[in-house]
Amino acid sequence: MIKPDGVQRGLIGKVLQRIEQKGFKIVAMKLAVMPEEKAKAHYAEHVGKKFYQDLVDFITSGPSVSLVVEGRGAIAAMRKMNGATNPAEAVPGTLRGDFGIETGRNVVHGSDSPASAAREIALHFCASELVNFKRIDEAWLYE
Ligand code: RTP
Ligand code: MG
Repeated sequence: MIKPDGVQRGLIGKVLQRIEQKGFKIVAMKLAVMPEEKAKAHYAEHVGKKFYQDLVDFITSGPSVSLVVEGRGAIAAMRKMNGATNPAEAVPGTLRGDFGIETGRNVVHGSDSPASAAREIALHFCASELVNFKRIDEAWLYE
């Protein structure tokens, strides 16, 4: 997900470019203001933490871009490409390292496991919104 700060700061294209140039396939994409109920469900694992309400308020404060990214090792690779949660600790070359300063404005979200990816995809998309197609360069990306 490109969070509302990323959208407001004009970073949609830069984030998408990194995903595309890596070789991963964007198979679903949606720009919308996340309804509060959806935000609460999305961040259910953080209920009770001191930053939870700020996080829900922030993620619903403007449009965000939800993406489904497909490719071998995509979940772990996207987490690495996003960088450390705190942009101050994220290394240069990562999205948060290059584009962020503080934890509460860290530009992007990435699912942290296959189970959370499945849960989050089902929360933000219906099955018919996931597109099944081949990228023309797949033979040059995979052995
Ligand atoms: P994300 O879920 O957004 O990909 O980030 P993450 O796995 O690296 O970090 P996570 O622990 O899941 O935290 C989710 C988001 O909550 C905000 N946060 N604020 N103030 C704080 O201590 C704090 N800790 C986390 C961040 O926006 C983080 O991305
Ligand atoms: Mg997380």
